[in-house]
Amino acid sequence: MLKKKVEDICNRQVEREGYSSALYLAMASWAESNGFAGVALWLYAQAEEEKLHMLKFVKYINERGGKAVIPAFKKPPEDFKNIEELFREVLKHENFVTASINEIVALTFEEKDFNTHNFLQWFVTEQVEEEASAQAILDKLKLLGKGNLYQFDRDIMSMRTPAGKAPATA
Ligand SMILES: [Fe+2]
Ligand SMILES: [Fe+2]
Repeated sequence: MLKKKVEDICNRQVEREGYSSALYLAMASWAESNGFAGVALWLYAQAEEEKLHMLKFVKYINERGGKAVIPAFKKPPEDFKNIEELFREVLKHENFVTASINEIVALTFEEKDFNTHNFLQWFVTEQVEEEASAQAILDKLKLLGKGNLYQFDRDIMSMRTPAGKAPATA
């Protein structure tokens, strides 16, 4: 049985993963409507992954005798300055999610909830991936400098790594 404190913080994470999905969907839509088909694909795929992260928390909470609550999500921004700013936002958001996961891990130590601690290890690893992949994209954009986003847009999907795999060193 989940302790109330742990249940509540896991429900907070349901909201954060769900918002991540909505945010990346909003970014995908912006990219698509601005002609960045490849970037849009990357972001649509990312939005799907975040939805799965939300579901992992929902199922875990319910499985442990708690009650997962699906909240209203805040409306994500609809406009982004440019591709580089967009990926800066992605990295910033992933940093925020990492801190959020780490807070839950810290609480499981305090509460001696080793089951939840174990459940969270997947997310701890996933966040390393998420930050690395956003950073790799920003590095690539820096290499390109201004312009030539055509090539970047064409190649970005090849930088995607299936969940749980190490990022390709492209
Ligand atoms: Fe996530
Ligand atoms: Fe993420």
